[in-house]
Amino acid sequence: MSTERIATVVGDLIRRINDAIDEHEVTYDEYHAAMNYLIRLGEAGEWPLFLDVFFEHTVERLNQGEGGTIRGPYYVPDAPWLEHPYVLPQRDDEKGDVLILSGTVHSTGGRPVPGAVLDMWQADADTYYSNVQEGPPPFNLRGRMTADDNGEFEVRTIVPPSYHLPRGGPMEELLNAAGWHDFRPGHLHFVVSADGYEPLITQLYFEGDRYLDSDVASAVKPELVLGLRKHDSPEEMEARGLKKPFFTTTHEFRLKPQDG
Ligand code: BEZ
Ligand code: FE
Repeated sequence: MSTERIATVVGDLIRRINDAIDEHEVTYDEYHAAMNYLIRLGEAGEWPLFLDVFFEHTVERLNQGEGGTIRGPYYVPDAPWLEHPYVLPQRDDEKGDVLILSGTVHSTGGRPVPGAVLDMWQADADTYYSNVQEGPPPFNLRGRMTADDNGEFEVRTIVPPSYHLPRGGPMEELLNAAGWHDFRPGHLHFVVSADGYEPLITQLYFEGDRYLDSDVASAVKPELVLGLRKHDSPEEMEARGLKKPFFTTTHEFRLKPQDG
Protein backbone atom coordinates (compact mmCIF):
# COMPACT_ATOMS: atom_id res chain seq x y z
CA MET A 1 0.00 0.00 0.00
CA SER A 2 1.24 3.47 -0.82
CA THR A 3 1.81 6.09 1.88
CA GLU A 4 -1.03 8.11 0.36
CA ARG A 5 -3.48 5.16 0.49
CA ILE A 6 -2.56 4.36 4.12
CA ALA A 7 -2.95 7.99 5.15
CA THR A 8 -6.35 8.20 3.39
CA VAL A 9 -7.88 4.94 4.69
CA VAL A 10 -6.35 4.89 8.18
CA GLY A 11 -6.92 8.63 8.57
CA ASP A 12 -10.61 8.16 7.75
CA LEU A 13 -10.91 5.21 10.15
CA ILE A 14 -9.39 7.26 12.97
CA ARG A 15 -11.70 10.20 12.21
CA ARG A 16 -14.80 7.96 12.24
CA ILE A 17 -13.85 6.26 15.50
CA ASN A 18 -13.30 9.68 17.06
CA ASP A 19 -16.72 10.76 15.77
CA ALA A 20 -18.31 7.70 17.46
CA ILE A 21 -16.47 8.45 20.74
CA ASP A 22 -17.72 12.02 20.52
CA GLU A 23 -21.30 11.12 19.62
CA HIS A 24 -21.63 8.57 22.42
CA GLU A 25 -19.68 10.61 24.99
CA VAL A 26 -17.36 7.72 25.84
CA THR A 27 -15.99 7.91 29.41
CA TYR A 28 -12.41 7.22 30.56
CA ASP A 29 -13.58 3.97 32.17
CA GLU A 30 -15.05 2.85 28.85
CA TYR A 31 -11.91 3.91 26.99
CA HIS A 32 -9.68 1.85 29.30
CA ALA A 33 -12.08 -1.13 29.15
CA ALA A 34 -11.85 -1.02 25.35
CA MET A 35 -8.04 -0.84 25.47
CA ASN A 36 -7.87 -3.78 27.88
CA TYR A 37 -10.32 -5.74 25.74
CA LEU A 38 -8.36 -5.25 22.51
CA ILE A 39 -5.13 -6.34 24.23
CA ARG A 40 -6.82 -9.52 25.49
CA LEU A 41 -8.34 -10.16 22.06
CA GLY A 42 -4.82 -10.23 20.61
CA GLU A 43 -3.41 -12.34 23.43
CA ALA A 44 -6.15 -14.92 22.83
CA GLY A 45 -5.32 -15.01 19.09
CA GLU A 46 -8.86 -13.89 18.24
CA TRP A 47 -8.10 -10.91 15.98
CA PRO A 48 -8.77 -12.95 12.78
CA LEU A 49 -12.08 -14.14 14.26
CA PHE A 50 -13.09 -10.60 15.27
CA LEU A 51 -12.17 -9.06 11.90
CA ASP A 52 -13.80 -11.82 9.82
CA VAL A 53 -17.03 -11.63 11.85
CA PHE A 54 -17.42 -7.86 11.73
CA PHE A 55 -15.64 -6.65 8.58
CA GLU A 56 -14.81 -9.34 6.01
CA HIS A 57 -18.31 -9.25 4.51
CA THR A 58 -17.82 -5.66 3.34
CA VAL A 59 -14.38 -6.33 1.84
CA GLU A 60 -15.84 -9.44 0.16
CA ARG A 61 -18.81 -7.57 -1.34
CA LEU A 62 -16.48 -4.95 -2.84
CA ASN A 63 -14.07 -7.51 -4.26
CA GLN A 64 -16.13 -10.55 -5.30
CA GLY A 65 -19.83 -9.73 -5.40
CA GLU A 66 -22.53 -12.16 -6.54
CA GLY A 67 -21.94 -15.87 -5.95
CA GLY A 68 -19.14 -15.33 -3.44
CA THR A 69 -18.98 -14.71 0.27
CA ILE A 70 -16.44 -14.52 3.10
CA ARG A 71 -13.68 -17.08 3.65
CA GLY A 72 -13.61 -16.79 7.45
CA PRO A 73 -10.60 -17.64 9.62
CA TYR A 74 -10.56 -21.44 9.30
CA TYR A 75 -9.23 -22.18 5.81
CA VAL A 76 -6.19 -24.50 5.87
CA PRO A 77 -4.11 -24.98 2.68
CA ASP A 78 -2.97 -28.36 1.31
CA ALA A 79 -6.10 -30.37 2.14
CA PRO A 80 -5.91 -33.95 0.79
CA TRP A 81 -6.78 -34.62 -2.84
CA LEU A 82 -9.85 -36.88 -2.98
CA GLU A 83 -10.34 -39.89 -5.26
CA HIS A 84 -13.57 -40.72 -7.09
CA PRO A 85 -16.27 -41.17 -5.82
CA TYR A 86 -15.61 -38.08 -3.73
CA VAL A 87 -16.27 -38.36 0.02
CA LEU A 88 -15.05 -35.59 2.33
CA PRO A 89 -12.65 -37.25 4.84
CA GLN A 90 -14.55 -38.15 8.01
CA ARG A 91 -14.61 -40.49 10.99
CA ASP A 92 -16.43 -43.86 10.68
CA ASP A 93 -18.97 -42.57 13.20
CA GLU A 94 -19.08 -38.94 11.97
CA LYS A 95 -22.16 -37.28 13.48
CA GLY A 96 -24.72 -35.69 11.14
CA ASP A 97 -27.06 -36.52 8.26
CA VAL A 98 -25.49 -37.67 5.02
CA LEU A 99 -25.48 -35.00 2.30
CA ILE A 100 -24.71 -35.59 -1.36
CA LEU A 101 -23.88 -32.31 -3.07
CA SER A 102 -23.70 -32.35 -6.84
CA GLY A 103 -23.19 -29.46 -9.19
CA THR A 104 -21.28 -27.75 -11.90
CA VAL A 105 -18.55 -25.20 -12.30
CA HIS A 106 -19.39 -22.81 -15.15
CA SER A 107 -17.93 -19.54 -16.36
CA THR A 108 -20.03 -16.43 -15.79
CA GLY A 109 -20.75 -16.73 -19.53
CA GLY A 110 -22.30 -20.18 -18.95
CA ARG A 111 -19.54 -22.44 -20.33
CA PRO A 112 -18.47 -25.52 -18.30
CA VAL A 113 -15.03 -25.27 -16.70
CA PRO A 114 -13.53 -28.79 -16.99
CA GLY A 115 -10.99 -29.71 -14.31
CA ALA A 116 -11.90 -26.80 -12.01
CA VAL A 117 -10.54 -27.40 -8.49
CA LEU A 118 -12.95 -27.33 -5.54
CA ASP A 119 -11.21 -26.89 -2.18
CA MET A 120 -13.90 -27.64 0.43
CA TRP A 121 -14.04 -27.47 4.23
CA GLN A 122 -16.65 -27.42 7.00
CA ALA A 123 -17.11 -27.74 10.75
CA ASP A 124 -18.25 -31.04 12.24
CA ALA A 125 -21.65 -31.47 13.92
CA ASP A 126 -20.16 -30.15 17.20
CA THR A 127 -18.95 -26.95 15.44
CA TYR A 128 -15.25 -27.91 15.50
CA TYR A 129 -12.93 -27.30 12.52
CA SER A 130 -10.14 -29.84 12.09
CA ASN A 131 -6.54 -28.49 12.23
CA VAL A 132 -7.86 -25.50 14.22
CA GLN A 133 -9.71 -26.86 17.25
CA GLU A 134 -9.06 -29.89 19.44
CA GLY A 135 -11.25 -32.88 18.63
CA PRO A 136 -11.46 -33.89 14.98
CA PRO A 137 -8.48 -35.69 13.39
CA PRO A 138 -6.27 -33.68 10.99
CA PHE A 139 -8.04 -32.67 7.76
CA ASN A 140 -11.36 -34.11 8.92
CA LEU A 141 -14.07 -32.65 6.63
CA ARG A 142 -11.49 -30.95 4.40
CA GLY A 143 -10.57 -31.99 0.88
CA ARG A 144 -9.78 -30.97 -2.69
CA MET A 145 -11.41 -32.43 -5.79
CA THR A 146 -11.74 -31.62 -9.49
CA ALA A 147 -14.77 -31.14 -11.71
CA ASP A 148 -14.98 -33.58 -14.65
CA ASP A 149 -14.73 -32.83 -18.39
CA ASN A 150 -18.22 -31.29 -18.30
CA GLY A 151 -17.45 -29.15 -15.24
CA GLU A 152 -19.56 -31.48 -13.08
CA PHE A 153 -18.83 -32.91 -9.62
CA GLU A 154 -20.49 -34.84 -6.80
CA VAL A 155 -19.28 -35.16 -3.21
CA ARG A 156 -20.63 -36.89 -0.12
CA THR A 157 -20.38 -35.16 3.25
CA ILE A 158 -22.64 -34.31 6.22
CA VAL A 159 -25.37 -31.66 6.45
CA PRO A 160 -23.76 -28.89 8.54
CA PRO A 161 -26.00 -27.93 11.48
CA SER A 162 -26.25 -24.30 12.67
CA TYR A 163 -22.81 -23.18 13.80
CA HIS A 164 -21.69 -21.12 16.76
CA LEU A 165 -18.39 -19.28 17.03
CA PRO A 166 -15.70 -20.68 19.37
CA ARG A 167 -16.66 -19.94 22.97
CA GLY A 168 -14.73 -19.15 26.11
CA GLY A 169 -12.63 -16.22 24.81
CA PRO A 170 -12.88 -12.44 24.40
CA MET A 171 -15.09 -12.76 21.29
CA GLU A 172 -17.81 -14.58 23.20
CA GLU A 173 -17.39 -12.10 26.05
CA LEU A 174 -18.10 -9.16 23.71
CA LEU A 175 -21.11 -10.81 22.05
CA ASN A 176 -22.59 -11.66 25.45
CA ALA A 177 -21.90 -8.17 26.79
CA ALA A 178 -23.71 -6.62 23.79
CA GLY A 179 -26.59 -9.11 24.00
CA TRP A 180 -25.88 -10.52 20.52
CA HIS A 181 -26.01 -14.23 19.63
CA ASP A 182 -22.93 -16.02 18.28
CA PHE A 183 -24.49 -18.18 15.57
CA ARG A 184 -23.97 -18.58 11.87
CA PRO A 185 -26.26 -20.72 9.72
CA GLY A 186 -24.70 -24.13 8.99
CA HIS A 187 -22.49 -23.85 5.92
CA LEU A 188 -20.03 -25.52 3.57
CA HIS A 189 -16.93 -23.53 2.54
CA PHE A 190 -15.35 -23.55 -0.92
CA VAL A 191 -12.54 -22.00 -2.89
CA VAL A 192 -13.19 -22.86 -6.54
CA SER A 193 -10.34 -22.18 -8.97
CA ALA A 194 -9.25 -22.84 -12.54
CA ASP A 195 -6.58 -21.48 -14.89
CA GLY A 196 -7.72 -18.26 -16.52
CA TYR A 197 -10.40 -17.50 -13.89
CA GLU A 198 -10.59 -15.48 -10.68
CA PRO A 199 -10.77 -17.87 -7.70
CA LEU A 200 -14.24 -17.90 -6.17
CA ILE A 201 -14.41 -17.93 -2.36
CA THR A 202 -17.85 -18.88 -1.18
CA GLN A 203 -20.13 -20.85 1.17
CA LEU A 204 -23.39 -22.76 0.76
CA TYR A 205 -26.26 -22.54 3.27
CA PHE A 206 -29.52 -24.50 3.62
CA GLU A 207 -33.17 -23.50 3.68
CA GLY A 208 -34.80 -23.80 7.09
CA ASP A 209 -31.72 -22.86 9.13
CA ARG A 210 -32.92 -20.49 11.85
CA TYR A 211 -29.89 -18.19 11.52
CA LEU A 212 -30.14 -17.40 7.80
CA ASP A 213 -31.49 -13.92 8.60
CA SER A 214 -29.24 -13.14 11.54
CA ASP A 215 -25.79 -14.54 10.67
CA VAL A 216 -23.35 -13.05 13.19
CA ALA A 217 -20.86 -12.71 10.30
CA SER A 218 -23.39 -11.09 7.88
CA ALA A 219 -22.28 -13.43 5.08
CA VAL A 220 -25.51 -14.99 3.73
CA LYS A 221 -26.59 -14.17 0.17
CA PRO A 222 -29.87 -15.50 -1.30
CA GLU A 223 -28.18 -17.23 -4.25
CA LEU A 224 -26.16 -19.35 -1.80
CA VAL A 225 -29.13 -20.81 0.10
CA LEU A 226 -29.99 -24.30 -1.17
CA GLY A 227 -32.98 -26.57 -0.66
CA LEU A 228 -32.40 -30.07 0.70
CA ARG A 229 -34.24 -33.11 -0.65
CA LYS A 230 -34.62 -36.07 1.72
CA HIS A 231 -34.27 -39.65 0.41
CA ASP A 232 -35.51 -42.31 2.81
CA SER A 233 -36.81 -45.15 0.68
CA PRO A 234 -34.95 -48.48 1.00
CA GLU A 235 -34.37 -48.48 -2.80
CA GLU A 236 -32.72 -45.04 -2.79
CA MET A 237 -30.54 -45.91 0.21
CA GLU A 238 -29.50 -49.22 -1.34
CA ALA A 239 -28.66 -47.56 -4.67
CA ARG A 240 -26.23 -45.31 -2.78
CA GLY A 241 -24.88 -48.08 -0.57
CA LEU A 242 -26.19 -46.23 2.51
CA LYS A 243 -27.94 -47.68 5.56
CA LYS A 244 -29.64 -44.43 6.61
CA PRO A 245 -31.67 -41.69 4.92
CA PHE A 246 -29.69 -39.03 3.10
CA PHE A 247 -30.17 -35.58 1.62
CA THR A 248 -29.27 -34.23 -1.82
CA THR A 249 -28.80 -30.76 -3.20
CA THR A 250 -27.16 -29.10 -6.14
CA HIS A 251 -25.37 -25.83 -6.94
CA GLU A 252 -23.76 -24.08 -9.88
CA PHE A 253 -20.52 -22.21 -9.12
CA ARG A 254 -19.78 -19.40 -11.59
CA LEU A 255 -16.18 -18.33 -12.22
CA LYS A 256 -15.26 -14.94 -13.63
CA PRO A 257 -12.69 -15.02 -16.47
CA GLN A 258 -9.49 -13.22 -15.41
CA ASP A 259 -9.58 -10.78 -18.30
CA GLY A 260 -13.40 -10.41 -18.23
C1 BEZ B 1 -16.88 -19.34 9.49
O1 BEZ B 1 -17.41 -19.29 8.39
O2 BEZ B 1 -16.65 -20.42 9.98
C2 BEZ B 1 -16.54 -18.07 10.19
C3 BEZ B 1 -16.65 -16.88 9.51
C4 BEZ B 1 -16.33 -15.70 10.17
C5 BEZ B 1 -15.89 -15.75 11.46
C6 BEZ B 1 -15.81 -16.98 12.13
C7 BEZ B 1 -16.12 -18.14 11.49
FE1 FE C 1 -17.24 -21.69 8.63
